[in-house]
Amino acid sequence: MDKKTIKDVDLSGKKVFVREDFNVPLDSNGNITDYTRIDAALPTIKYLLEKNCSLVLASHLGRPKGRDPKYSLVPVQKALSERLGINVKFVPDCVNDEAKEAIKNLKPGEVLLLENVRFYKEEEANDESFAKNWADLVDAFVCDAFGSVHRAHASVEALPRLMKQMKKPVVAGFLVEKELEYLDKALNNPKRPFVAILGGSKVSTKIDVINSLMNKVDKLLIGGGMMFTFYKAMGIDVGKSLLEPDYISVAFDILQKSKEKGISIVLPVDVVVTDSIDNPTKIETVGKNNIPSDMIGVDIGSSSIRLFADELKNAKTVFWNGPLGVFEKDEFSKGTIEIAKVLASLKDAVKVIGGGDSAAAVAKAGVESKMTHISTGGGASLEFVEGKPLPGIVVLDDK
Ligand code: 3PG
Repeated sequence: MDKKTIKDVDLSGKKVFVREDFNVPLDSNGNITDYTRIDAALPTIKYLLEKNCSLVLASHLGRPKGRDPKYSLVPVQKALSERLGINVKFVPDCVNDEAKEAIKNLKPGEVLLLENVRFYKEEEANDESFAKNWADLVDAFVCDAFGSVHRAHASVEALPRLMKQMKKPVVAGFLVEKELEYLDKALNNPKRPFVAILGGSKVSTKIDVINSLMNKVDKLLIGGGMMFTFYKAMGIDVGKSLLEPDYISVAFDILQKSKEKGISIVLPVDVVVTDSIDNPTKIETVGKNNIPSDMIGVDIGSSSIRLFADELKNAKTVFWNGPLGVFEKDEFSKGTIEIAKVLASLKDAVKVIGGGDSAAAVAKAGVESKMTHISTGGGASLEFVEGKPLPGIVVLDDK
């Protein structure tokens, strides 16, 4: 990586601000339902504690509009204390006098978690004076919030930028280093054949990813809600399935371009359809040319699962983003789960999962340990694939 990491600078005994991504899912009782992001943050925290640093940890959680106890980081404090075996301190704000006092008083070996930085609108506004609250109080900045590096927000971008001007080190943590390494190796220097699987509901949110992947992959397998816009572009009727009429011509152009480039775009050959997503009374599998006018497509069918499995069997690199059906509903999750299992069974391939729903699908299939890398960043990994500059990375010190 061309950016400095915590291994490249001497942080011994320093007061270090670590931007984490503790944006974890919570149930209705406020219990954390997936600890992946917390566990992924531990190697950096432990390393810095071994260096006798004092650590100020900051993160957002959810998208609160102002202060909202539902989005408090208290559950994260508890989880961190248990995992680290120390009492992680907590302040119920991130920049008020109490928070600043707590940062000032922090001793080597101690960890302080600040309350959700998004309780202030200045965070998302990338407000410099908001970031200045922290810049003056700490000696170094570590970015370990891979899931947030595509956000130009105060604790991700303005803060390290200010600290850099103050000649304080701003470097990447182990999680960010690992994420960039795997994504870069798999996507920019892939072993071939390189097959990408793209799902998710909308073509509109995936156009840049598709265009970027078309310059890298040998094959592109498409499922999820967006397959119906592609079907329509091929003249296939999609019944009541999700359709983005404004993107039919875009899908058509993508299909044309793939022919010119010699990349095969593989679409499902059969579809699971239903009369209702929420209260289905009828579920059946039909060929792609036989979608009834009153039914909704919700998953890829079993012939498509076999087709995708066949397309994947010789792959040496696989990148997957987006579920292939409405996988949060058990009845419509088969395609996604089965493809996760197919990936798990590939022995010699590098298998990179692009975060978000695909990571959840791999977990639901129980095959996490069979993947080469599961990104902790949904949006961030997509923007990486699109080749966009990630503000939280760009700002870090160069090697
Ligand atoms: C994520 O969950 O993808 C990151 O934490 C970023 O969250 P955001 O989309 O609310 O900025």
